[in-house]
Parts: sequence; C-alpha cells; structure tokens
Amino acid sequence: MTAAAQLKPVVAAPTRTVSIVASGAYVPPGIRTNADLEKMVDTSDEWIYSRTGIRERHIAEDHEATSDMAAEAARRALADAHLGPDQIDLILVATCTPDMTFPSTACFVQQQLGATHAACLDLSAACAGFLYALDVGRQYVASGQLNTVLVIGAEKMSTVMDWTDRTTCVLFGDGAGAAILQATDASHGVWPAVLGADGSLNKLLAIPGGGSREPFSQQVLDDKRHCLKMAGREVFKHAVTNMAAAAQEALQRSGACIEDVACIIPHQANARIIQAIGQRIGAPIEQFYLNVDRYGNTSAASVIMALDEAARNGRIQRGDLVLLVVFGGGFTWAATLLEW
Ligand code: ACO
Repeated sequence: MTAAAQLKPVVAAPTRTVSIVASGAYVPPGIRTNADLEKMVDTSDEWIYSRTGIRERHIAEDHEATSDMAAEAARRALADAHLGPDQIDLILVATCTPDMTFPSTACFVQQQLGATHAACLDLSAACAGFLYALDVGRQYVASGQLNTVLVIGAEKMSTVMDWTDRTTCVLFGDGAGAAILQATDASHGVWPAVLGADGSLNKLLAIPGGGSREPFSQQVLDDKRHCLKMAGREVFKHAVTNMAAAAQEALQRSGACIEDVACIIPHQANARIIQAIGQRIGAPIEQFYLNVDRYGNTSAASVIMALDEAARNGRIQRGDLVLLVVFGGGFTWAATLLEW
C-alpha cells in the first residue's frame, strides 16, 4: 500500500450558506476638497464634479499606512459582530497599495488586531479586489474548511498619485472597509461571484514602475512611473461595458431580475460610469448607492465602504437583495448578489 493510500479519505465538502454577518469602515480624518486641488493643479470644482461627481476625498497622514486603516475598519466590523480577534481563521486583504511588497498587508493587520490564529493573504485585483477576495473567503466558509473569514479592501491611493497630474490626482482617495463572513441559516447569503479579466489591456490602467519589470530607480522616480497612469476614456468605456455585463450575468445566474434588487452598490469610481451602467441594465440612478462625492475612488475599499455605509444609514435592511459590481486595472471585474 502506498503512503498516500494510508491517509484519511477526502470527504465530500459540505456547502454552507455564507453571509456577511458584520461590516466596518474607516476613512482618515483629513479631507482634500476640489477647492484644495484648485490650488495644486490647473482644475476646477466645476470640471471635477461635472465629469466625476466627486466633491472631496479623504487623505491619510504620512504615518498612516494601508494596514492601519484596514485594522481600524476590521475592529469596527469585529465590534459589530461581537467577535474577538482570536476567532478569525483567515484575513484576506484586497489592495494595490500594500504597506510593503512583503510581508503581506494582511500580516500587519493580524499583528495590529492580535488575531493570532488567522492565516494571512493579500489579493491583487486593483479596484475589483474586494469582490475577488469576498469570493475566495466565501468558498472557504462554504466548504466548511474555515468558520470565520475577515475580508478587507484597503487603499492608500494618495501614495501612488502624481499630485501634478490633474488627469488622475482628482479622482482617488484613501480608506478601508471590512466584512466578516460566517456560515448562517440565511436562505441565500452571498452568491458565487461572476469574475472576469482581460490582461491584454494591462497598460491602460497601471502603476508601471517599482516592480520586477521596471525596478525602482532614479529614472522611475524622475518619470513618476511609480505613480498611477491611466487612459481615462478607455477605462471609462471598458468599465461601463464590463460592469453592466457582469451585473446582468449575476442576475441571470441567480434567477433574479433587476426589479428584485433593493440596492445596487457599484465600485465608486465616477458617477457618470454608474449612470451609464444604469442605462444599460435598466436601473434608475435612485436604485444605486453613491458616496463617490465624499470619498472619490478608494479602489479596492470602495464597494465595501459603500456597503457598510448603506447598511448603517438604513439604505439597505437585513434580508434585502443587494447587487455589488466592480471594475479595475488588469482589467478585472466582478459582480455578485447577496442577501444582506
Ligand atoms: N481639470 C481640468 N481639466 C482636465 C482635468 C482636470 N482635473 N483632467 C483632464 N482635463 C482636461 C484634459 O486635459 C482635456 O483637455 P484638452 O481637451 O485641452 O486636451 C479635457 O479636460 C478633456 O479630457 P478627457 O480625458 O477627454 O476628459 P473626459 O471627459 O474623458 O473625463 C475622466 C476624464 C474623468 C478621467 C474620464 O475619462 C473618466 O472618468 N474615466 C474613467 C476613469 C476612472 O474612473 N478611473 C478610475 C480607475 S478605474 C476604475 O476605478 C473604474
């Protein structure tokens, strides 16, 4: 008999319903308004607001890293769930602005929370990262392998901005959101996500310098290739097409129709992108939750920050059907339905 034959057989994994049992969010207190930006670059409140719907964004202090914001959002989610940090089995952090290349930001969060029993992992799918991470965490809980997964989207986008480039610096902000996943007796919970990517378009939205392809150098610094570069119009077009298609696919797979959805919570990149998606999927703007005016685009943090805010201010109630849809660099996109 081989050694493998002597091991315990793999039992068929049970499938459990997984819900977001609690959430939390954090933004740093510092606010940079469009009027502040008018003093930094050649722009205006009128241009920014009419093109994007953004009025202001929160900017972290120099000493505050992505994991600091992530840990604070997580503390609020844990308090909401009445759970202690020792009950977390896995910390998943979606971010494109990690504290360091390694260790993972999740490891720094673990240290700050004292979540000593948790495994730690970062996940990179740019602005779409939170829904990718949510789907990974959901599967660990659904299979019964883990009981409590902390999924975080956190970004310090201010550190990858070229603050002299008006085409990008007006769009982004800093913040973090956290969700706790557990098995529940809800009838649906979180549905499996629709996930997509098109790596052939990787150059349209990227931080090209500072990685293994263009290691950090004086040239990278001089050319500001450690900062976010974006082909805005192309991003806009692909964001609308892919988010609308993913949202429709998520509805179709679940058997729901758009009228069943109490609230659509999209990635908060730009109010015009959200309006265009609404037109494509037949949803009035009132059906969407928007807070891009106050936070700008917080990348992987945006959808969970918006979900948490919508829950806290009563826009969504327990039992509501909520549609989440995101898009980011890669390109990457995702959509999922959940029973709140
Ligand atoms: N203030 C004033 N003028 C500006 C600014 C600014 N902040 N930025 C650009 N302009 C100028 C341009 O230089 C250009 O001037 P020109 O005609 O003299 O050359 C003019 O405004 C028009 O520029 P466009 O890029 O064509 O403007 P557009 O209407 O496409 O809006 C925007 C630009 C807002 C970036 C839009 O393309 C967009 O929203 N794209 C999506 C980008 C996005 O949301 N990215 C986030 C990351 S991906 C994601 O999260 C989904």
